[in-house]
Amino acid sequence: MTAAMIGRLNHVAIAVPDLAAASALYRDRLGATVSAPVAQPDHGVTTVFIELPNTKIELIAPLGGNSPIAAFLERNPSGGIHHICYEVADVAAAARDLAAGGARVLGSVKIGAHGKPVVFVHPKDFLGTLIELEQA
Ligand code: CO
Repeated sequence: MTAAMIGRLNHVAIAVPDLAAASALYRDRLGATVSAPVAQPDHGVTTVFIELPNTKIELIAPLGGNSPIAAFLERNPSGGIHHICYEVADVAAAARDLAAGGARVLGSVKIGAHGKPVVFVHPKDFLGTLIELEQA
């Protein structure tokens, strides 16, 4: 049992096949504040952020020929919830603790879409949900 590693919900990420259409859906149907698309070549995705009063939604679409979300979109052609991101005080320490407890931490700590360190934990070790941890 680890004491209070988890912090705020930073965002919920939704993989989409068409970023422009997805942005328009949130902007025009829900009246959401939708950012311009930002290419994240280090992560193989293009991201759009939707600011909500209490959290964010991250729309992600494949970028380049080897996108890590390409297979997910093949299985979910109309899109789907891809991961959820929790804030933690220390990503590297959290990754070490989770790995010590037997969770598969995917790769190493990288700089994420917000310029902060992030790491991902395998969905098979977290109730079928891909978890992103971001430095608070
Ligand atoms: Co994310």
